[in-house]
Amino acid sequence: MNAKSIRVAVTRKLPASVEGRLSDLFETTLQTRSAPLSLAALIDLAQHVDVLAPTLGDRLDAAFFDAAGERMKLVANFGAGTDHIDVAAANARGITVTNTPSVLAEDAADMAMALILAVPRRLVEGVRALETGQFHGWSPTWMLGRRVRGKKLGIIGLGRVGEAIARRARAFGLSIHYHNRKPINPHIEEELDATYWDSLDQMLARVDIVSVNCPHTPATFHLLARRRLELLQPHAYVVNVSRGEIVDEEALASMIEEGRLAGAGLDVYERGAPSEKLLKAPNVVLLPHMASATVESRIEMGERMIINIKMFADGHKPPDRVILGLDDDLEPDV
Ligand code: DGY
Repeated sequence: MNAKSIRVAVTRKLPASVEGRLSDLFETTLQTRSAPLSLAALIDLAQHVDVLAPTLGDRLDAAFFDAAGERMKLVANFGAGTDHIDVAAANARGITVTNTPSVLAEDAADMAMALILAVPRRLVEGVRALETGQFHGWSPTWMLGRRVRGKKLGIIGLGRVGEAIARRARAFGLSIHYHNRKPINPHIEEELDATYWDSLDQMLARVDIVSVNCPHTPATFHLLARRRLELLQPHAYVVNVSRGEIVDEEALASMIEEGRLAGAGLDVYERGAPSEKLLKAPNVVLLPHMASATVESRIEMGERMIINIKMFADGHKPPDRVILGLDDDLEPDV
């Protein structure tokens, strides 16, 4: 197949170098907008291309695939998470789905580590105090947070991002605990001096900070439901740079407000943006889903997406095929 005869459509504005490369290689429809397209526009694009390159926020469900017609054979997602795509429905129609794993792991881990430090040490509160004229000089009892060194970090889903967080956390003197479906490679476990917990409930009851790093799947929806949040000690913090749906946000906000949890550092939310209740909760640092927002990550995500499309165009299996059943447990996909 001549790659240039392959028609590709992206659904969002992408970094200029990625757009340039796509246009060099394929007959490409680009976008000028950073906001999601309407469903009708998505369907219209899909009907006229061989490859659709969607991203987070484009909901590709079974009805979408029904309406998309016969031509499209590859959905090359720009991003690691694919919970917005019904992969089973795509595969049932002979459509391959790929993602862009690994390339954003280090940047996502930096942001998780930033939250692990920022919440107990009241970083954002301190900045706000200064900006609003509440700083009247150093005092022995003002703006006291909690020490990070020596605390236990419980990672839910120790995969690429989780491991990168663990490495950082160890340098800050945290001990590493994790819950996966099964233990990780023993060499890595030993190197991280990580303790495996078969029981998530038991791990939650013992750690000081929880980091959510598993993908959002039907099995992980509200994995941290109220019942599990109640297992945490009242001095514990929750950090999440994965997907909002994994945590019961309403319960989390209530428990922080009631002092039954110490706080949270979040980059992702159940409904895309934080609820009013969460915005008003004390001891929270809330970010606008920016854990992978570096120039480098976004370019590498684009390059990875292009490799998948090129392999497909050349008649090979794209390397980052999303395989159903592989990620439908606690093993992270980012
Ligand atoms: C992804 O790639 O799924 C990330 O959530 C984007 O930050």
